Amino acid sequence: MQQAKDSRQYYTKITTHVLQEMKLKGEKIAMLTAYDYSMAKILDESGIDMVLVGDSASNVMAGHKTTLPITLDEMIYHASSVTRAVSRALIVVDLPFGTYQGNSIEALHSAIRIMKESGANAIKIEGGEEVVGSVKRILSAGIPVMGHLGLTPQSIHKFGTYVVRATEHDEAEKLVKDAHLLEEAGCFGIVLEKIPADLAGRVTAEVKIPCIGIGAGSKVDGQVLVLHDMLGITTKFSPRFLRRYHNLSEEIKGSVSAYIDDVKSSSFPNEREQY
Ligand code: KIV
Repeated sequence: MQQAKDSRQYYTKITTHVLQEMKLKGEKIAMLTAYDYSMAKILDESGIDMVLVGDSASNVMAGHKTTLPITLDEMIYHASSVTRAVSRALIVVDLPFGTYQGNSIEALHSAIRIMKESGANAIKIEGGEEVVGSVKRILSAGIPVMGHLGLTPQSIHKFGTYVVRATEHDEAEKLVKDAHLLEEAGCFGIVLEKIPADLAGRVTAEVKIPCIGIGAGSKVDGQVLVLHDMLGITTKFSPRFLRRYHNLSEEIKGSVSAYIDDVKSSSFPNEREQY
């Protein structure tokens, strides 16, 4: 029987070269988001391959409706907390909305601030052809760049809805072309968000760099989920692609009400819990 491939047994540090090797070997890449020290430490100790300090922090940490309001300073704060916790996983940080679009010099400065002030390993930007100039300029400073195609949440006001992208021929062909352009520009990987599984499979087969899917089916090189969604800390967001591994929101509520009961009944602290 063939042994399942598992990077946890081979690699003590995940780099962009390791990710490339994993794609070649057909080993799946596991990625999750994290925004703070404690959670990032748990993920790293569990053997996650990649940690994404996503701009989804805008939603799950700050309570905004979209990813647009989060600032570069806030992303650097989250990223710095994560880098202090992680020793093995590759840490990728999103360039937030308004810090790279339409200006490759500004994109470079934003990427440099993230790398210099947080100690992350790479940055991620959304878009295809329109961001190729920025990708090249950021790479010229030696900063690894990850692309992001399909449903790109920073463009939500253009899309108008969070439905599956690239279901029509023209948009699908543009996405394939964009993936090739990002690869040629030097991206080390691409996130494919909420697109049909067959299209994601086609892109994954055509490009040599790892493709990490979220709502993009199983024919990709790896998967990413938002940590708070997969742990059931957030409860309202329930797309079909989301597998919930826990119902932490209920568990936390149970623990907090038990604590409140104990405080109100004076059963906490007891004799052993005081000096
Ligand atoms: O910000 C984020 O969490 C992301 C993932 C959805 C891929 O970009």
